[in-house]
Amino acid sequence: MRRKLAAGNWKMNGLAGDLAQLDTIAAGHDGAAAEVLICPPATLLAPAAARCADTAVAVGGQDCHAEAAGAHTGDVSARMLADAGATAVILGHSERREDHGETDDLVRAKAGAAHAAGLMTIVCVGESLEQRDAANTLDIIAGQLAGSVPDGATGENTVIAYEPIWAIGTGRTPTNDQIGEVHDFMRSRLVARFGEGVGRSVRLLYGGSVKPGNAAEIFAVSNVDGALVGGASLRADDFSPIVAALSDSAQSI
Ligand code: 13P
Repeated sequence: MRRKLAAGNWKMNGLAGDLAQLDTIAAGHDGAAAEVLICPPATLLAPAAARCADTAVAVGGQDCHAEAAGAHTGDVSARMLADAGATAVILGHSERREDHGETDDLVRAKAGAAHAAGLMTIVCVGESLEQRDAANTLDIIAGQLAGSVPDGATGENTVIAYEPIWAIGTGRTPTNDQIGEVHDFMRSRLVARFGEGVGRSVRLLYGGSVKPGNAAEIFAVSNVDGALVGGASLRADDFSPIVAALSDSAQSI
């Protein structure tokens, strides 16, 4: 059975004072039914990891460079993330694909570097509204999965997050049927490429306007193994109920 995962992506938010949120998130979560991961900005990674050291909360990065080290001013390598205490890294988020022109090839190279550094990768895929309206969603997802996920993917080192771009930060979410259609499709593509064992062990997260009020119904959708949460991960008052909803969904299986 796949272990449920609630991951928080703080994006470019958070100063030292916000680390106190982690104490509250950790205090309300014993890790029994679900895994919890918070991905703060790189500046907070080391203090966040130290703060969560004796808790069931893990910390991760939001991006890494594809190379192990070198002359890349401003970039951070996967080994540096691991050295700061990260156990995971988000890769290929639509904001990086859009803001920094990241391609599937680059995301796949970054994922390989992250795996080599011992990090679990959360590889993001998702269609724009124009692509959905043109009925291209599944083609887009298939292309991103094929291009962004490296051949060395396993259930331990790879998580996929389906994040429709039009649902991110908008308060709009796809219907449960739309989420289920994409998640079932992703599962079938992974099984076709990696075989039953690996294909069924890779966890599939939904991301895009997940809130305390809609989390439980999203977690009931087929092949949804958890969530990648943006805005609602910034405050424990919002994130902890999402973690609780995920734990409840795990126990009801
Ligand atoms: P929101 O939860 O703020 O919509 O962001 C989702 C997201 O992009 C997580 O990576």
